[in-house]
Amino acid sequence: MTYTTFEARPLSGALGAEIHGADLKAHGNTRMWDELQQALLEFKVIAVRGQNLLPAEQRDAAAHFGKPSHYPFAQGLPDIPEMTLVVKEAQDRRNFGNGWHSDTPYLAEPPAITTLYAVETPPRGGDTLFTNTQMAYEELSTGLRRMIDGVSGVFSASLKYRPGGNRQEHHAKITSMPVTNTDSADRYVSRHPIVRTHPQTGAKALYCSLTHTLHLDEMTERESQPLIKMLYEHASTPEFTCRVRWEPGQMTFWDNRCTMHNAVNDYHGARREMRRLTVRPEKPV
Ligand code: SIN
Repeated sequence: MTYTTFEARPLSGALGAEIHGADLKAHGNTRMWDELQQALLEFKVIAVRGQNLLPAEQRDAAAHFGKPSHYPFAQGLPDIPEMTLVVKEAQDRRNFGNGWHSDTPYLAEPPAITTLYAVETPPRGGDTLFTNTQMAYEELSTGLRRMIDGVSGVFSASLKYRPGGNRQEHHAKITSMPVTNTDSADRYVSRHPIVRTHPQTGAKALYCSLTHTLHLDEMTERESQPLIKMLYEHASTPEFTCRVRWEPGQMTFWDNRCTMHNAVNDYHGARREMRRLTVRPEKPV
């Protein structure tokens, strides 16, 4: 697709594009917003470079993609409660968002889109990896696709099977973020299909991860986990992925319905600060 209001530079063969020349404060430029929506559908992840946004300006830009969704485990900004800071200080060892996942699938209506704005970035490292879960689904054998089509999974915020510890242990070590409500994580549970259909493109994508999927319908955790682990490892095949590098003033949008992401924790000794706002709560189908 050709875009007339900005330049889209693909990040890999699988997904992702850097967007140059867009202005996220130009709310009257309907053509640009239509093209950004189109670019997000085409690339699944768009990293819009060269912005300078206050929190309210990020909120207004994100509003073109849907209404805000609430994140249960971090305190929001006082005047924009749905917007949370994602911070790792120089002395911290843990980061937020490490490990492949789609955002908050334990909600009944997880956000379709996440926006992340870079306030401060480390001199090197601190990238975010993304994977195309539509491609991951399409590259499975017909037999396995037939087996998992129509199967639902139980998604939990407990992070019980997350490599590296459950939510309470993990969040206790994320010392510089205003994490909250961690002891109620086990109560956030939802049931969704593990192969979901994108409401705009009609394409199917894997929706299942070790991070959040406890078990499959009518199966025990012990029975389900080997398959979940296999699908999780398959979904992170390098050929399905791209890497987003950050610079201050960059706002990245991603589509949680057909991607997973993983915040790389390779910048100990440096500070990283982002603002995160998810939008468009939507029941996976
Ligand atoms: C997240 O998982 O939402 C955070 C990603 C990042 O900080 O790169």
